[in-house]
Amino acid sequence: MNKDHLIIFDTTLRDGEQSPGASMDIEEKMQIANALSDLNVDVIEAGFPIASNGDFTAVKEIANSISNSRICALARALDKDILRAADALKNAKLSRIHTFIATSPIHMEMKLKMSPDQVIENAVSAVKMAREHVQDVEFSPEDAGRSDFDFLCKIIERVIDAGASTINIPDTVGYNLPHQFGELISKIIQNVPNSNDAVFSVHCHNDLGLAVSNSLSSVLNGARQVECTINGLGERAGNAALEEIVMTVKTRRDIFTCDTKINTKKIMNCSRLVSSITGFPVQPNKAIVGKNAFAHESGIHQDGIIKSRETYEIMRAEDIGLVSNSLVLGKHSGRNAFKQKLDELNIQSDSDNSFNDLFSRFKELADKKHDIYDEDIIRLSNNISLTGDDIQLSYMSVICDTNKKPNAKIKLNIKGEEIEASAEGDGAVDAAFNAIKEIIDLKVDLKLYSVNNITSGTDAQGEVTVRVVKGDLIVNGHGADTDIVKASVLAYLNAINKIYQNPDLDSKKLSGI
Ligand code: KIV
Ligand code: ZN
Repeated sequence: MNKDHLIIFDTTLRDGEQSPGASMDIEEKMQIANALSDLNVDVIEAGFPIASNGDFTAVKEIANSISNSRICALARALDKDILRAADALKNAKLSRIHTFIATSPIHMEMKLKMSPDQVIENAVSAVKMAREHVQDVEFSPEDAGRSDFDFLCKIIERVIDAGASTINIPDTVGYNLPHQFGELISKIIQNVPNSNDAVFSVHCHNDLGLAVSNSLSSVLNGARQVECTINGLGERAGNAALEEIVMTVKTRRDIFTCDTKINTKKIMNCSRLVSSITGFPVQPNKAIVGKNAFAHESGIHQDGIIKSRETYEIMRAEDIGLVSNSLVLGKHSGRNAFKQKLDELNIQSDSDNSFNDLFSRFKELADKKHDIYDEDIIRLSNNISLTGDDIQLSYMSVICDTNKKPNAKIKLNIKGEEIEASAEGDGAVDAAFNAIKEIIDLKVDLKLYSVNNITSGTDAQGEVTVRVVKGDLIVNGHGADTDIVKASVLAYLNAINKIYQNPDLDSKKLSGI
């Protein structure tokens, strides 16, 4: 049977970034956009250009460099939003403007203070204006899940006439139940006279833990685009998780009459990247990408798996990019074994230099850690190179004594000049950060400090993410090392370098350097 195509619209960089504490800088957004394009998502919602200059630049850079996926920018149904979105997208090979306005009684009355007729008028003129700039326009009636059905059908009919080719039905507050939301989609498609001229999409939030179920129920009822995010990141409890939608449709081919074109072997890599950039660890029992998703602990299960994998496995770990019986590397592994591993993990080292750089980082790690697992190598390949940073760590020593406050001595190389300081703190990391602040006091606020072990065992690399804020600027810093205090220092310095080297800040005004 020839199956319909289910469009995967990823909004990790827009709704995902709205998740409290998940802001990303442009370089990080670019890394994620590349991973999404590798994953073969159809549409990447890259941001909300009117929201900030940073968002505008991120959408513009992604639009300039990604050609495999359609790049979408969000805009309220306002002229200034649409013009800003169009400007950010102007060099995209494939572009889309996604415009929205709320349609539920509570949103129209309390938030917009607009009558239903005014809402329709704004929606229609926004879609028309967007169509003057791009061919592909999506419209969302925000809070559709709590909107009046007849009004919803009326506004949808009008925006399709105005040129919208995708109609997205959001369950903005995650209020709906699967049977109800599926029925809503099928009723809209039946009742809107011109529904054949648009693709129907859904965008479900996870406030009741139903985002994936609601999305899938909608697909069974005619939706042909799902808006989702990697690891289910998103506003409040998040959005529908891309990996769960894609793997359900793939695993239950007997039920779904449509299919995605996602390269599922890249799912794990994308999940790890998003988790490492945002500092949001994936819970071990998370479906598809959790550490335990393919682990079998009980004797009965292990016995069954040995006899036949299908006894307890409905999907293959390899399908999401987990390589089974994978070669574990160590300090005696040579260049060939390392190259083979990179190929196996689909990690590109496009030049001799990048291969040599990765190989020497691998050797450095192998000196500290006996077994190097796939996760370690993926982390190495995602590692932010510190070469070229103005501020580098030259030396550190931290003393922890049960009877005294921890004390840290840090030496930094700042543009060739070595500066040293010591400080105490409430813990080893606090002492180390205080010593750094003695040398460079950028007066930043630390908003997030997160440690995640990359593999298991006490010699595992600790991956640290910090988020620091200086005025309007929010940056993430990342560091990984088998010593978590060092990983923390590297993460903190990575963030400080980003602030120090930010062209929007006058570095001379930054005290302490
Ligand atoms: O949740 C929502 O309603 C949204 C819209 C902008 C689609 O994110
Ligand atoms: Zn949303």
